[in-house]
Amino acid sequence: MSQKITFLLGNKLTEIDFSNSVYTPTTTVLQYLRSLSGHKGVKEGCAEGDCGACTVVIAENKNGKLEYRAYDSCIIFLPMLHGKQLLTVENLGNSTNLHPVQQAMIETDGSQCGFCTPGFVMSMFAVFKQFKKPTLAEINDALTGNLCRCTGYRPIIEATQRACKLEGKDKFSEEEPEIIKMLECINTKTAISLNTGKQNYFIPFTKAKALSLKAKYPDALVINGATDIALRVTKKKEFLPMLLDLSHIAGLKKIQTKSDAVIFGSGACMEDVRMKSKKIFPALYEMLSVFGSKQIRNKATLGGNIGSASPIGDTPPVLMAYDASVCVENASSSREIKLREFVVSYRTTQLKNDELITSVIIPKLSEGTIVKSYKVSKRKDMDISTVSAGFRLKIESGIVKEIALYYGGMAALTKCAAKAENYLLGKEWTREHVEQTMTLIDEEFTPISDARSGADARKIMARNLLLKFWSETK
Ligand SMILES: Cc1cc2nc3c(=O)[nH]c(=O)nc-3n(C[C@H](O)[C@H](O)[C@H](O)COP(=O)(O)OP(=O)(O)OC[C@H]3O[C@@H](n4cnc5c(N)ncnc54)[C@H](O)[C@@H]3O)c2cc1C
Ligand code: FES
Ligand code: FES
Repeated sequence: MSQKITFLLGNKLTEIDFSNSVYTPTTTVLQYLRSLSGHKGVKEGCAEGDCGACTVVIAENKNGKLEYRAYDSCIIFLPMLHGKQLLTVENLGNSTNLHPVQQAMIETDGSQCGFCTPGFVMSMFAVFKQFKKPTLAEINDALTGNLCRCTGYRPIIEATQRACKLEGKDKFSEEEPEIIKMLECINTKTAISLNTGKQNYFIPFTKAKALSLKAKYPDALVINGATDIALRVTKKKEFLPMLLDLSHIAGLKKIQTKSDAVIFGSGACMEDVRMKSKKIFPALYEMLSVFGSKQIRNKATLGGNIGSASPIGDTPPVLMAYDASVCVENASSSREIKLREFVVSYRTTQLKNDELITSVIIPKLSEGTIVKSYKVSKRKDMDISTVSAGFRLKIESGIVKEIALYYGGMAALTKCAAKAENYLLGKEWTREHVEQTMTLIDEEFTPISDARSGADARKIMARNLLLKFWSETK
């Protein structure tokens, strides 16, 4: 097996041989870039995906076309670049030949101290390449992951609008065929095993290979987007001896629409899940629209959100309200488990150590069934839930025929308000009946007090979310 990864840094074919390198497989792309002389535009702010100062763009060959997306380089491990093109602000242009987004930033006075500017420019560049005519909402959304403490966002938004008048045409459009040819020459078929003597990092390209590696190395730590796991390295300074990276497996990113359900590959990133959900699962779309930032959603996966089994993970309550199931597989068999049964206690799931989550199945709603999701956090964007909820309701002839009330942030795991559900089932959907459940919700949960909120405030939020749901569906 190969010890090397290969990618393009700008237009330059670049190899890193981990058997003989100053870098390790868990060196982040940010650390790598900061060690090079020509790429110091990329900045470190938070080292945890929150500020966007380290934003880079990674281009991937998707069926003969390059897809450009913005990422936080501080939480990407180097091997995740294999087979891709990495672009930093230095690759866009220079002082005598600026890229249109850089030129527009100057024209609108979009930079003051400049610390955030390279990161903003890369997010703007991703918008420039992704959308022919981006709407204001699409521009705002693309910039939520970039913080600026001095300039203010108006001139930066204006610069993006100004540059985007060129409809994505730039030097990268001309170079695209050549870049695709170079990317196609990189091995993305035979699994790569990086072994430094101290650390093992496996890169399978198929699900079958990943499952056989998991059978052979059950203790290997699985990563996909690594938006949770990378923080163990960057913030907790943990050493991770053995990693199984699923992020190169195209088969796990597939989203299939069936007549009665949509099957999301566990490796589908949140941004792709969001776009797919817009019409068919609007409550999931709403939740994912306030999930992290664009940079995070481009990397974070559905499988990772479920695999982390966090009590404040944003997708479990709404997925449970949709009655979703997870498919888990080992090398010889597979099983389907209702998501509501999958997490068994605090950060613990039913997953065995030779198994992987391979897909998430969301059934289409039956006629007349409503699902809604709610997230209460201190800020709208880029914030962790204080309390979240996913509710399902079906009313027939004024009577509650089906009800499911799932809450996040109220217990050690996503939990339903079973007593309130039982009380409401078979009754009229009236404010009076909903208010009767308030004490039942209080009895059902003993939330914690932490930096985000006190326990009592969490209980009030849980009660009021149900009232809000009623007022939106009455
Ligand atoms: C800045 C920032 C903002 C964030 N905002 C939000 C937010 O708004 N809402 C929210 O819910 N979360 C948020 N997160 C947390 C994180 O992005 C999500 O939990 C994400 O979905 C994790 O997916 P991942 O692919 O990156 O997981 P990873 O970090 O790769 O893995 C997470 C866990 O899942 C396991 N795992 C991953 N894939 C599989 C698989 N296929 N089979 C079995 N186990 C697997 C891993 O072993 C690990 O335990 C944020 C994180 C950051 C850094
Ligand atoms: S350094 Fe803040 S997002 Fe990467
Ligand atoms: S220009 Fe100073 S942080 Fe944005």
